[in-house]
Amino acid sequence: MTDTDIKKGLAGVVVDYTAVSKVNPETNSLLYRGYPVQELAATQSFEAVAHLLWHGELPSDAQLAELRESERQHRALLPSVKAVIDGLPVDAHPMDEVRTAVSAIGAEETAGISNVLDAVGSPEENLERSIRLFAQLPAIVAYGQRRRRGLDLVEARDDLDYAANFLWQTFGEEPDEVVVDAFNRSMILYAEHSFNASTFTARVITSTLSDLYSAVTGAIGALKGPLHGGANEAVLHILTEIGDASNVVPWLDAALAEKRKIMGFGHRVYKKGDSRVPTMKAALDTLVAHYDRPDVAELYETLESEFVSRKGIYPNLDYPSGPAYSLMGFDTLTFTPLFVAARITGWTAHILEQQASNALIRPLSAYNGPDERHVEGYVPDEAEL
Ligand code: CMC
Repeated sequence: MTDTDIKKGLAGVVVDYTAVSKVNPETNSLLYRGYPVQELAATQSFEAVAHLLWHGELPSDAQLAELRESERQHRALLPSVKAVIDGLPVDAHPMDEVRTAVSAIGAEETAGISNVLDAVGSPEENLERSIRLFAQLPAIVAYGQRRRRGLDLVEARDDLDYAANFLWQTFGEEPDEVVVDAFNRSMILYAEHSFNASTFTARVITSTLSDLYSAVTGAIGALKGPLHGGANEAVLHILTEIGDASNVVPWLDAALAEKRKIMGFGHRVYKKGDSRVPTMKAALDTLVAHYDRPDVAELYETLESEFVSRKGIYPNLDYPSGPAYSLMGFDTLTFTPLFVAARITGWTAHILEQQASNALIRPLSAYNGPDERHVEGYVPDEAEL
């Protein structure tokens, strides 16, 4: 085995087929079940895209109505889950809160299964579990932000669709249409992205025939990291640190001299730009106009053009989504939980796909530790020889 046989970070390694989405860095395109993500963001609701990811086709009107009905039925924050969240420190990181809540839901929903061989569940059960998590995550994320602000839970509104209800449960105010539209687009753009680190984590866990909740809980842990989903939170930290467009040049000089990574830029697969960025930037622009915050756009564009011209490294989706969520009124720490609420659709579509055609994921490693050695004085038992 030589160094070139080692695919550090699995870079460039194709490990399986998927029919859920296609990332093509050559054409800079991302397709969900064949549809360009930009077209979906411009024309569909997040609920319709969830159906597409789970079933492979966009829903008929009747199918969409059925999913919406099911989503509404399961929106409430379960009292037992609320109690688990309330037991956590109020300054726990919201990703820890969401991870713990999903784990608690799993313990409840799989209670009574006494044989580990039954843990995985049937495809029908797992689709229902997916829909319930999709429906429950907004309340978990919204309540998390409110709890940190010392506010009470806001009950779901049956007359609002997913995106509007999510904003309602977070802020307790009926949202403006422009905000609902930008939020819906962000959820669609974040929904799915092939074998990224968190999805692959979910597939690894699923491949052991563990249950869907364990796979999602693991995926949330992977998403928290700033090289992955945590980047949208980290983007806002750096924009806040810079403060104003006039500070970009000196800030960037210092950051690059310290070899800091500039959050929201770069991608393992896309080297010529992330295809989701123009769509999310357009949504950000609508928010900039709506809230009359040209300063936000100026800082965004100045940092982008300075960094791209110096390093040739382009923004990823987390770069426009960070300031967009901030303008909507979300706390910086809530950004990655929003990513969870969106990516639950892609994760669960991959979990269902992995379950339908499973092979235990178990790669090899090249050992580079000490040569074989022995414990001093150890004499093997005769039975061991
Ligand atoms: N800022 C500064 N330098 C960078 C950046 C960046 N954001 N991204 C890459 N580079 C440099 C890096 O320092 C390295 O330089 P050198 O060869 O001189 O050591 C070179 O580019 C290659 O970087 P890498 O980290 O080895 O490449 P990768 O393919 O493993 O990295 C990445 C992909 C996303 C981890 C990286 O670009 C990064 O850390 N970006 C910042 C975090 C971020 O925005 N993450 C979100 C990713 S997209 C959304 C998601 O999946 O959640």
